[in-house]
Amino acid sequence: MPTSQHCKRRREQFLASIDTPVLLMAGGWMSRNYPANWCPYRADSTFLFFFPNPEPNAAALFDPKDESVTLFLDERTPEDALWHGPVPSFAEIKKATGVSAVEKRADLAALVAKKAGKRQVRGVAVADPRATAELKAITKERLDFATAKKVGDPDVLRAIAGLRCHRDPEEIAEMRTAAAVTREAHTVAMARTRPGIYEQELAGLVEGTFARHGCVPAYNTILSVRGEVLHNTAHHNLLHDTDLVLLDAGAERPSGYCADVTRTWPVSGRFSPEARDIYDIVLAAEITAIEAVKPGVRYRDLHLASSRVIADGLAQLGLLKGSADDLVESGAHALFFPHGVGHLIGLDVHDMEGFGDLVAYGPGRKRSTQFGTAYLRLDLDLEPGMCFTIEPGIYFVPAILRDAEFKKQFKGQVDFKRAEQFLTMNSLRGFGGVRIEDDVLCTNNGPEVLTAAVPKERLAVEALVGSAGL
Ligand code: GLY
Ligand code: MN
Ligand code: MN
Repeated sequence: MPTSQHCKRRREQFLASIDTPVLLMAGGWMSRNYPANWCPYRADSTFLFFFPNPEPNAAALFDPKDESVTLFLDERTPEDALWHGPVPSFAEIKKATGVSAVEKRADLAALVAKKAGKRQVRGVAVADPRATAELKAITKERLDFATAKKVGDPDVLRAIAGLRCHRDPEEIAEMRTAAAVTREAHTVAMARTRPGIYEQELAGLVEGTFARHGCVPAYNTILSVRGEVLHNTAHHNLLHDTDLVLLDAGAERPSGYCADVTRTWPVSGRFSPEARDIYDIVLAAEITAIEAVKPGVRYRDLHLASSRVIADGLAQLGLLKGSADDLVESGAHALFFPHGVGHLIGLDVHDMEGFGDLVAYGPGRKRSTQFGTAYLRLDLDLEPGMCFTIEPGIYFVPAILRDAEFKKQFKGQVDFKRAEQFLTMNSLRGFGGVRIEDDVLCTNNGPEVLTAAVPKERLAVEALVGSAGL
């Protein structure tokens, strides 16, 4: 886990890369209904990057002029100690973190104004709306957490991203631990799968496994026989033996580092001939992209490589017509693979996605406007230390494959009649979807798959499914 020393080094690097004071907020407790009933606290990821285990409501002023970092914390009161337990004193925190000073949170606006003088103070909007409102009042910036272009000053965001983009060994160790917990959760869910139980029973086992290891879900667990609904977070379906279960779930460590893994398996323990064909194409698309990982490769080219494998495979099955290059060029493949091949991962499951394409797309690169590829979240040239997911999939989505416009546009390239057979198979339940997702570290020697221990070879998956018995 990144220690105080690591965090101090990161703060020094950040101070060296800014030329005006920057105020960062951890964010505080957020209520789930009435004010005192809180959601679990989760500090903003940039704050977590610079401070291990930050307190709710913490703020930090980085001042490049005197190379100081001032940490602002809530005052310690007996009442807080009563309800929430004792916390270390300001003096203890100063010593443990190595910051220049620890001040009262109530004095934030006044002390920032005094220290900054006439200099512009910059801030970065966070999920907690009260913290962002305070930041706006102090900096007078037009910040908005929900609008990537207004999250913060581009130079400040680039400086943060420059540090957060490359994983150091301590971060990789955390991600490996998150991967190991995630492996256990996925294998438990596979082993306990059987017809006649509800999705929520397996989802509970997944999240229970995270909890047993002191982790939380890094994002809402997707566990569904309706895998074609990409971000399906409902868990109410009954498992039939002709269904495929798609599980997209990853553990987040207390440090904030996480995993993001998808596996798909048959409820019966045996892939049907159609499911086997589709599974093999998705696995080939995933492995093709992973094997192409090395420094200097453009991430979009991994997406296109996966897309071509999918287009070729679907053409061999008669669902598409034409060459892989032509199908990917026109975007016909995206009717079955309608999302990007992945995203950065680290402290956020979609790391720094809130900063927008300023970070995720290389200089001068713009998002495609073509359906499918427009959802590609990342288009950087890979560098050693970058960590990202590779997650191709094939889905049979009624709303897409029965869409009149798409039917017209891709009449010559998609066999919609054959697609309809997939939409109506399994007693009209439809095929669903297959996605396979791993977390990959780019090294000088090529790819390192942090989540490689989660079974994905078809026979290994079949052997595991249902193996826990009743
Ligand atoms: N779990 C969401 C994703 O794979 O991006
Ligand atoms: Mn992902
Ligand atoms: Mn995922």
